[in-house]
Parts: sequence; C-alpha cells; structure tokens
Amino acid sequence: MVEINIPKDLLPLDGRFGCGPSKVRTEQLAAFNTEGAKLIGTSHRQAPVKNLVKRVQDGLMDLFHNPNGYEIVLGNGGSTAFWDVAAFSLAEGKSQLLVHGEFGAKFATSLSAPWLEKPTVVQAEAGSRSELRAEAGISAYAYPQNETSTGVVTPVKRVPGADSGALFFTDATSAAGGIDFDPYETDVYYFARRRTLQVMVVFGLL
Ligand SMILES: Cc1ncc(COP(=O)(O)O)c(C=O)c1O
Repeated sequence: MVEINIPKDLLPLDGRFGCGPSKVRTEQLAAFNTEGAKLIGTSHRQAPVKNLVKRVQDGLMDLFHNPNGYEIVLGNGGSTAFWDVAAFSLAEGKSQLLVHGEFGAKFATSLSAPWLEKPTVVQAEAGSRSELRAEAGISAYAYPQNETSTGVVTPVKRVPGADSGALFFTDATSAAGGIDFDPYETDVYYFARRRTLQVMVVFGLL
C-alpha cells in the first residue's frame, strides 16, 4: 500500500471545512451574545423574531434567483430530520434515488419506510457518477447535489420523460451557497447549516 504524505505547507490552517464541522468565527460567537441575546427568551410571535426570519427568507430567496411560486421554510433539525419529513409528508408510492455514498444511501433508507413502496436505487460505482432515469410510476426522484462522503457533484436537473407531477428532492447540505443551480430544475432544495445551529432550510415549490 502506498502511503500518501501531504506536505505540511499544503495542509489547511484549519482542518474544518465548509460542510462541517464548520468553523465559527469568534465575531459570530460574540454577536450571538450581544445581538442574539436581544432575541433569546422573547416570543417567536413578536416582530423582532419575525423580522429576522423574514430577512433570512428574503436573503435566501434572492440568493436562489427569486423563482416564482417557491417558498423558503425554516425548521428545527438537520437534513436527517428532513428525510423523515419527506418520508412522512412528501413522498408517495415509489421513489427513485441516486446513491453516490453515505448520505444518498441514508435517504434511500428513509424512503423505504413501510408505508412507501420499495424504491429504485441507482447506485454508482466508487469513483463514478450515475444518472437518474425516467421510470413509469415514480412519484419522487432524489439525489445529493454534493455527496459529502465522496465529493460527487450531480447537476440539478429534472429527468426528461419522468411522470408528470413527479417531485424532485435535491439534498444541498454541502452544496447550498457554493454551487449555483436553476431552481426551476427541482421542487425541494434542502440543507441544514453545518454543526452550528441546526436550522433546516427547505426551499421549494410547496
Ligand atoms: C450531503 C449530506 N446530506 C445529509 C447530511 C446529514 O445532515 P445533518 O447532520 O444536518 O442531519 C449530511 C451531513 O454531513 C450531508 O453531508
């Protein structure tokens, strides 16, 4: 076996990376203690909290090109919590999932819940990228935009020939804000900020 030694001068100064565990700047922590403290312990029904949520929603909508009819939904929990949301409330019947590593496989397990039909899993060989394909009777297609465990990036595209009304779920956990996309090419684009505050963001035609 070849031992790989990365030269010290090529190593990042901080080993943490964007998709987590994220580095949180000391300024952010300080702001949490000052600006954040003004909101903590106040009612989520009052204007200061609602205004902040609105500002986050508007900013994200702008980042994602303001598509008509799409909404930003913020929730508690990580992307894993969204998989349960999808299994309970969005997916019906049979799904098709693209699996390029650990996280795509986990979503495939969620969409194999007993009240759903056994999904079609398109599994790519390590070191390669595969494609979703049109299949009659599929009501939801799902894939990670960036499979964090293997680094495989999949373009955000609908599947030509898919049944009309089929939903597309894009796991953007380690891609959102880093890889641009056309929002009209998906229905639900979800991610959660990495290991800081677990706020789930779901963006889609809801
Ligand atoms: C692509 C991808 N999907 C889902 C998850 C799970 O996210 P969470 O830890 O927010 O549940 C991760 C976590 O790293 C991920 O990288």
